[in-house]
Amino acid sequence: MSRLTYMMQLLSQQDITKLRIKTYNYILKQDFSFFQDTKTGDLMVRLTSDISNLQMLISSNTFGIIGNLFTFVAVLVFLFWQNWSLTLMVTLTFPILFVTIRFFRNKIRESFSKVRTSQSKINNQLQSTLTEIELIKLYTTETFEIQNFKNIAEESNKYSLEATKWQAIFQLLITFINTIGTAIVLLFGSLLVMTHHMTIGSLVAYLAYVSMLQDPIRSFTMLINVFQNAQVSYDRIKNILSYKPKITTIDNPLKLPNPLETGIYFQNVTFSYDGKKRISLNNVSLFIPKGQTTALVGRSGSGKTTIIKLLARLYDYQSGSINFDNVNIKMLDLKSLRQNISIVSQDVTIIDGTIADNISYGSVNYSEESIWQAAEKADIASFIKTLPLSLATEVGERGIKLSGDQKQRLSIARALLKNSQIVILDEATAALDNESEKAIQHALDNLMVSKTSIIIAHRLSTVHKADNIIVMNNGQIEETGTHSELLALNRLYRHLYDSQFE
Ligand SMILES: Nc1ncnc2c1ncn2[C@@H]1O[C@H](COP(=O)(O)OP(=O)(O)O)[C@@H](O)[C@H]1O
Ligand SMILES: [Mg+2]
Repeated sequence: MSRLTYMMQLLSQQDITKLRIKTYNYILKQDFSFFQDTKTGDLMVRLTSDISNLQMLISSNTFGIIGNLFTFVAVLVFLFWQNWSLTLMVTLTFPILFVTIRFFRNKIRESFSKVRTSQSKINNQLQSTLTEIELIKLYTTETFEIQNFKNIAEESNKYSLEATKWQAIFQLLITFINTIGTAIVLLFGSLLVMTHHMTIGSLVAYLAYVSMLQDPIRSFTMLINVFQNAQVSYDRIKNILSYKPKITTIDNPLKLPNPLETGIYFQNVTFSYDGKKRISLNNVSLFIPKGQTTALVGRSGSGKTTIIKLLARLYDYQSGSINFDNVNIKMLDLKSLRQNISIVSQDVTIIDGTIADNISYGSVNYSEESIWQAAEKADIASFIKTLPLSLATEVGERGIKLSGDQKQRLSIARALLKNSQIVILDEATAALDNESEKAIQHALDNLMVSKTSIIIAHRLSTVHKADNIIVMNNGQIEETGTHSELLALNRLYRHLYDSQFE
């Protein structure tokens, strides 16, 4: 390998790595809703093999094309100089070449595009099945999933074959057209020789030059495959880079007041996930006082979690306003907003790493001692001490080596270490049995000490101590008050409460 090519590859390697990092950066900065509408497998293919395809373009001998082009033009000029009328005849095949290249270029690109799409499907299938292995085992759907995979893999193979087929026909046609060019030269060349306008020697030489003209055409058509493949991948990456997140920090943002002076205000907030059709929050006004515990209750689907998502600005409301003290949420630095909020929900997220990694995830200033303190308050320290490597024990992907309440305690410890002023429990104990729920209550109480807290709970027995209870129904606030006030009111809360103790 020449030194130049080596350097070119080094350079390209670096640029490709930069592009890969940039694309990853773009993807992570997209809105939360982007990830709900996009398949993970597809994003993975774009980040891995699409970018590798571009690399192939740069590292395969694409730069040879410049040399080829140069040879082509030089030889053509020389041919005209040698015998302009004969060369004019040869150039008659150029329009046919041009049309053929255009046609096949598009066909090859279409097939490559289908190959990429089916590759995304393969990755989606892999991603969704390998991460849901328990479901597959328990429902004995292995054969079903294998069949699914087989179908997608065969579809992908079909498109690859299709691409190969177009490539083969293309090469054949190009050779054929080149042969026609040579035939034309032979035919008219012999006429010129017979009429003594050309010598046999110069005709033979001329033929040799014509084949020098055809060589670059041939290598160019070979490169078209690499080009089309890279073009498809490039478009797929460009497509990602064209998405712009809507939820971003404004210029000169404000920091979230810490501590809050009064609390959090929702004023006539209306929100729909899909823009207009189904309204999830309808004209909601509420106040969450600082330093107190506010409970949100209501039937499933009444909009409780949606309130939390708006509060953490995972989505933007369509009308109304959300203020922290007197600062509108859109004026706040996103980072400062989210650093001030800890959410513990029933879907616990455990990262692949150690116990310590999981507790300290997202925290900046912490020591081993503070990790232990958080673990202690989350009532999980004694469990951690029984583990072979203590804090350094690996928990397995998504925490498969932990029980439900151990995972939940880890996430509480994580929130405790983060020590944010706003704490939200969204059905934090819903996935646990009665006994674990009671046992974990102590950890949750520790988490809420002197915080502005919001509790969403199914079991109303866990919310009756709240300073204020907001009852939601169908995306609207139905009633608010303390436990005893709401019971006395004898409406929805009373109804929900009674139905739990029947
Ligand atoms: N990501 C989403 N996309 C579309 N609709 C959603 C989404 N999340 C929730 N919804 C809808 O919004 C409404 C309120 O949901 P949610 O706030 O999760 O209810 P709750 O937490 O009270 O059970 C429901 O009708 C639900 O179907
Ligand atoms: Mg919910």
